[in-house]
Amino acid sequence: MKRTIQCIAAAALLALPLSLYAAEKGPETINLKEKFQFEGKKSAVIFPHHMHQEKVDCAKCHKDPAGGGALIVDIVKKKGSGNDFHKKLCWPCHKEMKVPKGKSCKTCHK
Ligand code: HEC
Ligand code: HEC
Ligand code: HEC
Repeated sequence: MKRTIQCIAAAALLALPLSLYAAEKGPETINLKEKFQFEGKKSAVIFPHHMHQEKVDCAKCHKDPAGGGALIVDIVKKKGSGNDFHKKLCWPCHKEMKVPKGKSCKTCHK
């Protein structure tokens, strides 16, 4: 009996930090059209979030250097090619880091 309780306690201790870690990293991919309620005919951008985490610091996108929560830019303009994701977040970095086809529509709108 005592043994079982010890096992359960150990398992809980192991699972807790793991689940916290997973939560902090946020979702692996994010449907930005749905999340930010963009309207229009372009196909939804499924943003590869974890892939970006391997390439650049959280602070490149999040106000909090530890990541999560608010983004460094406010997404207000949500229509057309002059929208805030293009102009303020995605395109400037892709240009700066010379991402191959980083501004080609099909890279993001599949
Ligand atoms: C290239 C940009 C980018 C980078 C780099 C990035 N994120 Fe994100 N992250 C986003 C976007 C966009 C969202 C969706 C924003 C929203 O839902 O309001 C998001 C959402 C999240 C969320 C869930 C949203 C919430 O409710 O807080 C967490 C947690 C998170 N990111 C953590 C991180 C951590 C930790 C890092 C660094 C290891 C990181 N992100 C790096 C762009 C990025
Ligand atoms: C701070 C820099 C930075 C920001 C901001 C950024 N990206 Fe990227 N992105 C990269 C880099 C670097 C790569 C190239 C990764 C590689 O393949 O080495 C990339 C690649 C991509 C790819 C191609 C993935 C693949 O499988 O080849 C997509 C899609 C993408 N980004 C979408 C976005 C979207 C959407 C946003 C805005 C919400 C965004 N990115 C913002 C740095 C950034
Ligand atoms: C680096 C990623 C990226 C690239 C490249 C990109 N977009 Fe976008 N685009 C986004 C994101 C993120 C949104 C907002 C979320 C959504 O609508 O899915 C968006 C939204 C849009 C919108 C507004 C929403 C809609 O459905 O009408 C238009 C129009 C648009 N993009 C056109 C283009 C065109 C045209 C190109 C090629 C010249 C292009 N995009 C290239 C990331 C990108």
